[in-house]
Amino acid sequence: MTLSLPRSGIRPTTALLWLIRALPAVALAVLVQQVLAIDSDRRLALAAEAPDIVGSAALFTLAATMAVTPLVTLTGWRGHIPLRRDLGLWTVALGTVEVAVSVLTASTGWLDAVAGTAFLAAGTAAVVLAVPLALTSYPAAQRFLGRQWKVLHRLAHGVVLLVIAHVAFLGLDQIILVTVLFGPSYLLRIPVVRRRVVALRRERSTR
Ligand code: HEM
Repeated sequence: MTLSLPRSGIRPTTALLWLIRALPAVALAVLVQQVLAIDSDRRLALAAEAPDIVGSAALFTLAATMAVTPLVTLTGWRGHIPLRRDLGLWTVALGTVEVAVSVLTASTGWLDAVAGTAFLAAGTAAVVLAVPLALTSYPAAQRFLGRQWKVLHRLAHGVVLLVIAHVAFLGLDQIILVTVLFGPSYLLRIPVVRRRVVALRRERSTR
């Protein structure tokens, strides 16, 4: 008798792999439980500290994600391309932590915590927009979506715009920081600049 695997549906090994992948979320669940248990003074301190740490990390991973393709233009090297997905996933994970901290430490309800001000709404919208990109960042989704994949992933620029709007509310320092972090990448994306840089690079390498 031969044992045949089902052709459709989720295979047991796939389900097991996803279970193992999701296991670290238990640590987050424990953290959430701890946050809910702390007194209001410490909760206020967490609300003040966490967004600065996690937000900065999310900003840097997003900038690094968006720098991957321009770096190919600049150097011709492609070995770092897999980092694009990893760094993008980090941005979504860190952004989600910002949402969670905001909701868990809120004193006026979850809606205020995610959209009570234009500043918060822009941050939340950035995370929400980034989620479908994270979910479809895998080769299987890329194959499934075909040409539509590229169109969908242009939304990454919308995420960048929303993040810039979010941090711009914090003042000139942050505006300068995002200009430095994203400016060169976007300059290298301008077709005429990209073509010139590639041509110069090829010219130098054939000399
Ligand atoms: C990918 C999405 C996000 C990015 C890249 C991001 C980035 C940042 C950055 C760079 C800062 C400033 C850190 C500093 O002071 O050095 C910040 C602050 C902050 N963010 Fe976000 N953020 C995101 C999403 C969110 C979300 C979803 C929320 C809440 C719903 C949020 C709430 C805050 C708060 C409360 C602060 C502190 C503001 C203050 O210091 O007055 N962020 N964020």
